[in-house]
Amino acid sequence: MKKFFVTFALIAAVVLTSTARAAEFEMVEYSAQVKLQWLSAAGIPEAQKFLKLIDRPVFFHADNLADFERIQLTNSLYQELNFTAAMDYVREKNYRNVFDLACSLSPRAMILGDEGRRVIVGELNTVCLLGDWCVDEFGKTSKQTVSYDAFWLQDAVGMMESANKFDGEICIIEQGVSIYLADDIRSQMFDNIHSVLKKHGGCLITSDFCQKKYFTDVATALYGAEAAPTLYAETKAMYEKVYGDKIADDALQDEQEAIEYLRAHGLRAEKIPLFRTLPKLYINSKLTPEQIQRVNELSVRTYLWVITAI
Ligand SMILES: C[S@@+](CC[C@H](N)C(=O)[O-])C[C@H]1O[C@@H](n2cnc3c(N)ncnc32)[C@H](O)[C@@H]1O
Repeated sequence: MKKFFVTFALIAAVVLTSTARAAEFEMVEYSAQVKLQWLSAAGIPEAQKFLKLIDRPVFFHADNLADFERIQLTNSLYQELNFTAAMDYVREKNYRNVFDLACSLSPRAMILGDEGRRVIVGELNTVCLLGDWCVDEFGKTSKQTVSYDAFWLQDAVGMMESANKFDGEICIIEQGVSIYLADDIRSQMFDNIHSVLKKHGGCLITSDFCQKKYFTDVATALYGAEAAPTLYAETKAMYEKVYGDKIADDALQDEQEAIEYLRAHGLRAEKIPLFRTLPKLYINSKLTPEQIQRVNELSVRTYLWVITAI
């Protein structure tokens, strides 16, 4: 009940007037909404539900982004691959605890939460307010199993306090974040993750290392090798618009360097295929048979890193 009133009071500013809502939403990292836009376009119902609930116009469309159709399909495929691969891994290992770090409003949390898994989303405060509100609005089992905790990735105490709410080993998911962080923040985040894994056991899964090659391979599967670097550059420019800042995309792109970086943080990495069996992707209904064939080939490549404490 208390949670209801606190959430209601905080969210009231978001829902009462469109002006207030716009102001509140501006405080939320815009990337949260952009990710939902791509997952929605892929056809993921839970992402569509989130977008409907927060009721904001989508950021990018054919009228304001050149090459929109190709950028949308590439990003939707890339996001759905990550989204589904992480869930498949959690199910395969039957992790009961999932720590979804900086994943924005998380349709994945709702799905895993509805399966009875305990999911904590670690996010910025404004995302947490919206996230908790969304869970109350459309959660089923997830009303009891999913919650959002506000802490910075670089906050050792905040991350550990949140992790301590789990009972047993934890599967931490981090995707699409570490590549954008400043070096010192990223370094602190991996130290914090190391402490959590050392104490609770489990692993971190991510596809952020060597992400540039992975994303380019996804674009190649859809549009061929010649178009892929352009699609990578266009996507980077689009996200730079969202962040209002330049993205340094050369960090942790070399596999050996990344392995050594992790080792320096007390972590070891194993690269595994995105999927062990062919995935059934929502986006397939938008692809040609040739594209599906190339996506199937991608799905067994070792883009997923499983990282554990040494
Ligand atoms: C690029 S999005 C990543 C979204 C998602 N993981 C994905 O795969 O696209 C970045 C998210 O991280 C959150 N974030 C950014 N910097 C953070 C920090 N230092 N601590 C906690 N969350 C952060 C933002 O609120 C945003 O929702």
